[in-house]
Order: sequence, then C-alpha cells, then structure tokens
Amino acid sequence: MSSNNAYVNDDAVGMTSFSTVPEPTSSSSSEVQPYELDEVKINESGFKSSRSSSLSSIDHDGPYAGMPKEVLLKYSRQKKFVWARNILFGIVILTILTLISLVIAIIVISPPCLDYWQTSPIYQIYPKSFKDSWSPPDLGLPDGETDGIGDLYGVIDQLSYFEELGVRVLWLNPIYESPQKDNGYDISDFRAIDETFGGMDAMDKLIEEIHNLGMKIVMDFVPNHSSNQHKWFQASSDPNHEEYDTYKDYYMWVAGANANDIPNNWVSEFDNTTSAWTWNAAREEFYYHGFYAEQPDLNLRNSVVKEELRDILRFWMEKGVDGFRCDALAYMLEAEHLRDNPVVDSALPVNKANIYADYTQNYKGVHDIVADWRALLDEYSTEPGVYRFMQTEVYTDNIEETLRYYGTERAPEGDFPMNFLLITADPDTEWNATSMSGKVLEWMRNMPAGRWPSWTVSNHDNSRLPSRVGWGLARCAAVMIMTLPGTPGFYYGDEIGMTDNNNIPADQSNDFRDPERTPMQWNGDGDFAGFCENCEPWLPVNQDYVDINVEDQRADSDSMLQMYKRLISLRQEMVYQRGYFCMLEVQAGNTLAFIRELPGLSSRLVLINFDESASGDSTINMNLEYDRYLPATGTVTFVSQSSGSVEVGRQFDFGGFALPASRGIIIDFERQDTLFHEGGENECFIHTKVCYDKALGIVKTC
Ligand code: GLC
Ligand code: MG
Repeated sequence: MSSNNAYVNDDAVGMTSFSTVPEPTSSSSSEVQPYELDEVKINESGFKSSRSSSLSSIDHDGPYAGMPKEVLLKYSRQKKFVWARNILFGIVILTILTLISLVIAIIVISPPCLDYWQTSPIYQIYPKSFKDSWSPPDLGLPDGETDGIGDLYGVIDQLSYFEELGVRVLWLNPIYESPQKDNGYDISDFRAIDETFGGMDAMDKLIEEIHNLGMKIVMDFVPNHSSNQHKWFQASSDPNHEEYDTYKDYYMWVAGANANDIPNNWVSEFDNTTSAWTWNAAREEFYYHGFYAEQPDLNLRNSVVKEELRDILRFWMEKGVDGFRCDALAYMLEAEHLRDNPVVDSALPVNKANIYADYTQNYKGVHDIVADWRALLDEYSTEPGVYRFMQTEVYTDNIEETLRYYGTERAPEGDFPMNFLLITADPDTEWNATSMSGKVLEWMRNMPAGRWPSWTVSNHDNSRLPSRVGWGLARCAAVMIMTLPGTPGFYYGDEIGMTDNNNIPADQSNDFRDPERTPMQWNGDGDFAGFCENCEPWLPVNQDYVDINVEDQRADSDSMLQMYKRLISLRQEMVYQRGYFCMLEVQAGNTLAFIRELPGLSSRLVLINFDESASGDSTINMNLEYDRYLPATGTVTFVSQSSGSVEVGRQFDFGGFALPASRGIIIDFERQDTLFHEGGENECFIHTKVCYDKALGIVKTC
C-alpha cells in the first residue's frame, strides 16, 4: 500500500490530490485495490506515467465495487465515463475560450480609460495660507506657538478634508526655497523645499501620504525666471564671481552705455509703468525681468539652461510628483532683435495696458520648449498607472493663442491650457447667460479635436469669485464648471465661498494680490479660524470667518460646502465625464441651458439662472423649442440652493417651470426617441463617442 500511495502521489500530481483518493473497502491482499486500478487506467488511457510498462500488464476489467463515481469519471475506460469525461473537458475548454473572447471583446469595445486629471477636480492649495502646523526649529518659538505661515505638515494634517470633498488631485503653489518677494514664484533653489514649509522631509512625507490615499500631487514649475538670490544669478551678475564664466549666459543680459540707456520700451508685468530692464553696475549691462526686478528672466535660448530645467523636472518626477502646473509660459522667449513693442496709443504713457506684447509674450519658439517637456514627462509615464500631468498657465486675449498650448498631434504640449475665460470675464457685463454660453462655446469650438477642456473661476492672482459676482452667482458658476465636459479646478476656500479680505493693514500687506490669499477658514472659533492656534498669521484672517468656515458649513445641508460636495460626487457619473455636451438657446432671458447625454443612460438638463435680481425668477418653457427631444416632464435631481418652489425630487415640467433667481438646477429625463446630439441643428461636443451597454453594464465605443 505504501508504495502505491507513493506512486499515486508521484505520478498523478496535477490530476488529483492525494488526500481525495478514497481508502479501499477491503484489506484482503487478494483483492485489487482501487488505487492500483486507478493507476492502470491512467496508463492505458494514455495519461502520462513513467511507470506504465510495469503496471499495464495487470488485468483489471469491469466496474469495481466501492469505487465512487468521481474516481470512475476521472479514470475509467468504460465508454460512458470516457464520454462524460470528454464532454466535461469540452465544456471546460469552451468556457475558457468564451471567457477569453469576452475579455478581448470588452477590451476592443472599451474606450480608453479616463485618467485622474480627468476624473477628479483639481484643488489648488496656496500652502502659505492653508494650515499652519509647524515652524522651522531655528525660529526658536515657544512650545505650541507657530510662525503663522502655512506649511506642508498643515496640508498633511488636512488630507482627510480632500477625502471628504471627493477631490483626488492637489496642485500646490510654489514651495521651493525662496526669498518670497513674489510669494514663492521667486525661486532660489529649484530642488529644495523652503524650510518655512517643512523642508524636504515634509515634502517626502506629503508625497507618500498623498499616494497612500490614492491621490495625486501637482507642483508649480516656474521656468521663466529665478530669484535674484539664486546662485546662478549671483554668479551671472558678478564678473568677479568664481563661477561667472559658467553662468554668465544664464540670464538675459543686454549691454548699455549707462543706466539710462534702456534697451527698449518693454515693461514689467507688475510695475505697470516701469521698465522690464534693470541696470547691473558690475556687468554694466541690463538684465530683463518680465515680472519683479527680483525675478530675472532665464535665458531660454541657452541650451544649458534648457537642460537645467529638464533636469529639475526629472528631479521632481523621480521624487514621485505626478504633474506640473507650468507658470507664465508666455514669457519664456523674447525677440532677439529687441525692437520696441508696438504701442496702442502713442499719446498715452507706455505701460502694459498700452502695448501689444508682440515681442515679449508667446514669442515664436515657446511651443517647441513646452512640447519638449511634454515628451520628457512621457518618458516618465511609462509604468502602469503612472501619468505625468501638465497644465499650462498663459493669459491671452486670443483664444487661438491660448489653445495652441494643447500642442499638435505630432507635438503635444499640456494636457490642457488653464482656462481663464471665466476668471477674466467682466463682472459687470459678462456674468450673464449669453456671455457665459459664448465663452463656453468659444473654448469648445476652437479646442483641437480629441482634447480635454478645463474650467476654473478663481485663483491666487485674481479676486475671489463671490467678491466679484456675489454668492448666488458663485454657486451658479460652480454648477456650471462641475457639469460641463472637462476638468474643473478650484482654489482653496472656493468651496465655502471665501471672499477677498480688503482690510489688510498697510504694515501687513506684501502684494497687490493679498486679498485673495488670506488664511483658510476652517472654523469660527478662536482668533484665527483654525488656520493656526497660537500665532500671528502672515496675512490677517478675513473677519467673515465667523460666518464663512468649513465647520459651520459641514453642519448646514444647504451650505456652499455641501453644494460643492454634491456636485463633486455628481460629477463622477458617466454622463458628465463622458457624455455629449449640447449647448441650448439661452432661456427666459438669462438662463443658461445645456444638455449632457450618453446613449443608454438618462439625460441631464442643466439650467442656470444668472439673473440675481429680486424679480429674477423665470418661467422656463422648453417644449416648444425642443419638442423632438424633450419629454413632457423630468425630475429635479440637484438644486444649488434650496428655495421654496424648487426641491430635489420634484417633477419638472418642460412646458412651464419656475426657476428662482441665481439658481442652478439639474433635471434628469428620459429622452424622446431622438437623441439630442443627433439632431443636425444642435451644437454638441464629445471627447470620445461612447454608449452605455445596459446588458454588460459597461461603457463602450459606439
Ligand atoms: C504666474 C503666477 C503669479 C506669479 C507670476 C510670476 O502668473 O500665477 O502668481 O506672480 O506667474 O511668476
Ligand atoms: Mg522670459
């Protein structure tokens, strides 16, 4: 027995497990043991066995009492068992083949997956003002006291807030080593994190924690200029410096006879009437600075400088940074001929409002540089699940110029240029349905095919939205950017409706953009809104924190914060991420109307009433215009702010519905038999055509 057992164990490996072989029913030595029979059958049936010759001579025919069916089915030579075995074998093979083909079919019909920068909104953190949890030890502050400047430990402390919001992508304004002339956009070491923010230890920890939560981190990348404190500039501006020769061409130097011999009329962005040229007595030359004099422009025609920048990108990607917001790209190259920029009105002083920046902005060559970075980011995007995202910052009045930063098919650039159409919209004349519709269509119509849009309403360079247009329209704007196709971006505090702080005492102010950069308002307690406990914040907390803060809004189901959360979760729906977008006619004077639809799912009608006057309630009647597509009724599934007459779950009558002033609502409806985007007269847009397959429960190309 023991040798038989050993045999079964040896040769039947893979066919049956040793322990499942049944014990013999009799112990008599003359009886043939089932195990022995088993092995013979195996060999005679042609199964692989190294000992077939010694065993095949044993004659064992007929059924054997006590043998369970499973064993017979496995090894018996009897016809009925052979058949059953073959059929079972066939079924198994067929099932495997079917499954393989199904997987292949699903892969073939599935559209490309959307990536994190498409599925999550991008939340902009201004680290100095987000949360102060730490201070550099050498400040020697007493226990419990902090320096009043937000830091990366503060961001780490608040990571659960992003989970609560449903945001997965964080963009951080510059945290590099910097003298802070331009709040971090003047960088003195591109590879170091400023001690104020916690240094590199804090950054390593932040990257790790963000990734552990399945989130992504996007850094600011500032290629146009460095700080004048950067060692490159220190060397470049001093002919006696030991590394002068290495760095002398890192910046834009132009000779002059003396300090008054200014090369041309180019003006700096920040000092409106001030020349962009600053005299350097040591070199007896001018250097160019598109921004503050403390931010000398790098010489991006110098290939060594370009390689330095590539190396900086590599450095951060190797650290695990997921993407970059590329700063001030329009300013990267200037015309070498140094001609004056054309003046708009020669009777008026030359300042940035009165010139055409033909030779100083978006100058030819910038796109090659951006495309080169995109290619570099692609080199770091090859591992599964890793993609290095790029958004570009360029303000222009010209949509084509802006959209050029998408690049071309052959030379792609950013994943999207940041969209400033809403930020630059005139609060007095353009925050209405007609202008908003025009702006949205302007982007969608001009965007290169197959590319992805983005929308944003506030940032660190512009007045906060509620201060520009009021809270009602700020809510409307949030509804709009969250339900349009593309990625919405928002600025810390947008989600609670933070406003500009226009009460900054002169001795505490440090930049014209301070009002929109004040500390995050976490709660209404204490003196500093929860930004820090025992400190003097670097900018004063806006005193409206008592009413406008995260904690209170958590508790209020109708708050701005709760509205943002609802919108963010709504935006996870396929129809918003992948569906058609069709702009409709403006309704009832001032109501923006658009449809999102995805064949196979119910459709959405988004209605936003931009009229904020007391008499701004509008009665919408859409049946007449769109009777081929719209049913008689739908259901209200979202309301930007509660209002007596409108609530979630209410039936929406397409033939007559009262929409209150400054409200955004969403209506779900089942379409008539015609799909909206198929009606030739409608202007609809889609990224990749997809349909929802109810049977398979998947989205497929169609
Ligand atoms: C970008 C930044 C702005 C900064 C400027 C110069 O426009 O958004 O804050 O001052 O570049 O770096
Ligand atoms: Mg430049």
